[in-house]
Amino acid sequence: MSILVTGGAGFIGSHTVVELLDKGYDVIVVDNFVNSKPETLDIIKDITGKDFKFYEADILDKEKMDEIFTENKDITSVIHFAGLKAVGESVEMPLEYYQNNIAGTLVLLNTMRKHNIKSIVFSSSATVYGDQGVPKYTEDLGRGKTTNPYGTTKAMIEKILEDLYFSDNQWNICILRYFNPIGAHKSGLLGEDPQGIPNNLMPYIMKVAAGELDHLNVFGNDYDTKDGTGMRDYIHVVDLALGHINAIEKMEKTKKGLSVYNLGTGNPYSVLDLVNTFEKVNGVKVPYVITDRRPGDIAVCCADPSKANKEMGWRAERELEEMCRDSWNFAEKRYKGM
Ligand code: NAD
Ligand code: WQD
Repeated sequence: MSILVTGGAGFIGSHTVVELLDKGYDVIVVDNFVNSKPETLDIIKDITGKDFKFYEADILDKEKMDEIFTENKDITSVIHFAGLKAVGESVEMPLEYYQNNIAGTLVLLNTMRKHNIKSIVFSSSATVYGDQGVPKYTEDLGRGKTTNPYGTTKAMIEKILEDLYFSDNQWNICILRYFNPIGAHKSGLLGEDPQGIPNNLMPYIMKVAAGELDHLNVFGNDYDTKDGTGMRDYIHVVDLALGHINAIEKMEKTKKGLSVYNLGTGNPYSVLDLVNTFEKVNGVKVPYVITDRRPGDIAVCCADPSKANKEMGWRAERELEEMCRDSWNFAEKRYKGM
């Protein structure tokens, strides 16, 4: 019995592969390294002391995907992380995003159906809620208006999965809507290291603290929040990874169905909370300046994670301090060679 993990060399995928191997699952990883590095696979093996099969392949490659499923008759489920995820880039290159994320998912689903593997966990995002002006998002609010092609690919794939399930209810589909994953593996060997200037807050803070960037730009301090800066539900990537184990375990029991779960902590923190906590727990400085709001940003985005707790027995356990400590532990090794 093996779990096929697409995008398993990426940030969330690599942490999930570690947890799967630790729990004794056999894992097969497919990745084309468009946003990751081959070294990550060796790091996963070092951390876990376990080996796994790997295919360097693009999920858009029908023949290769067919070959992978033909060679591995023991695949029981797929966890589908592979996708492009940079919001700004998706605005500049919408066709590439629709092609990679949507066409790639269609190739994957067609191949799964051909081989009669009908169990999939899909990486969706809180971005599908859009701005609904509520303090916490529950799954039954449904999808709102997405504001960029990346978010639209997530909303469209969710719809494709729903239509697939309604056409054939032998499928077992679990859609996980992630909030804001940060943090890194305790070893400091796995984490998020985007190329160039980061778009997301924590990778930016890490580069400022390491002296790679001069200061953080805080995008607006005039939101209707406690300190005027945007508030988000930051979740430790290891808690997020563990959510996939709960999803797989639940799907093994239910055998079929379509479910949607938020993976977040339920506790929103502001940009300045993150900066202050990062400085305090790591004893470093994160200089910042307040700038204009970033177009498309909303004031608050926070999960109500109670459905995942009730139905999958999952709860995020790691606090903001630990997220900041683990992020810096990774960044120090990466940027300062410590
Ligand atoms: P990531 O870029 O680190 O990982 C994605 C992996 O998929 C990379 O290793 C990349 O090389 C691979 N990949 C992309 N296209 C591929 C293709 N066509 N064929 C094979 N491999 C391909 O991103 P991540 O942060 O680990 O995100 C994983 C998933 O979770 C993505 O689908 C992302 O959209 C989703 N997600 C991420 C966040 C976040 O904030 N990080 C939030 C919500 C949802
Ligand atoms: C967090 C807060 C910014 C950078 C994005 C995607 C979303 C999901 C997660 C994949 C906001 C502020 C940021 C900076 C800042 N990804 N900020 N200075 O926008 O909540 O979500 O990543 O699905 O789809 O949109 O995350 O980390 O970019 O921003 O002040 O340099 O930090 O305004 O309030 P976001 P983020």
